[in-house]
Amino acid sequence: MIAVDGPAASGKGTIATKLAALYGYPVLDSGLLYRAVGMRVLAEGGDLGDAEHATRVARTLDPASLENPEVRTRAAGEAASRVAAYTPVREALRDFQRTFAAQEPGAVIDGRDIGTVIAPQAPAKLFVTATPEVRATRRWKQLTGQGEAVSFEDILADIRIRDERDSGRSDSPMVIAPDAVLLDTTQMDIDRAFDAARRIVEAARASRP
Ligand code: C5P
Repeated sequence: MIAVDGPAASGKGTIATKLAALYGYPVLDSGLLYRAVGMRVLAEGGDLGDAEHATRVARTLDPASLENPEVRTRAAGEAASRVAAYTPVREALRDFQRTFAAQEPGAVIDGRDIGTVIAPQAPAKLFVTATPEVRATRRWKQLTGQGEAVSFEDILADIRIRDERDSGRSDSPMVIAPDAVLLDTTQMDIDRAFDAARRIVEAARASRP
């Protein structure tokens, strides 16, 4: 099991996908679960401040909704971080993630609390980060590539708000697990970041009996 945590647009999703391909493991982008919950609340005309509505949605989440391109929009990221602060929402999504993590011969999950809450026993943990400016540039390129008309300043503001909300919440805040290795990708392109991640995973495996 490989846990890849970190803030928005740090490169963790790409790193997780590439590690999964390298080792032949399935990969789960856990952010999509929270994004799908947030988007369904909105689609049902609900309010993101309504924890009970979000909990009902999380308990009956259809995994097929993770495939909807809507969950990759800017609005979905914002909605996700609102509903992700509710403990019953996190509880409703926990078993699915733990079952995914327990698959043999292994799995990769990326998120915010994978190494701390979902799979604290994971033998290899990375915490991927980069400066807010570099992350905002990456996210801006991704969203404009998807056809969304957004300004860089708005994306940077989103990222700062989301970082604060995700690190400041009381349930499963975004923190570096004590046994995770920090990977700062600010100065790295994806090939270098992946190479560094691969070396971290291999070192973690080699150090275990
Ligand atoms: O990773 P992504 O940006 O898609 O995540 C969207 C939001 O979902 C995050 O800002 C965070 O609030 C929430 N999330 C979480 N725990 C995870 C993954 C995502 O709280 N494991």
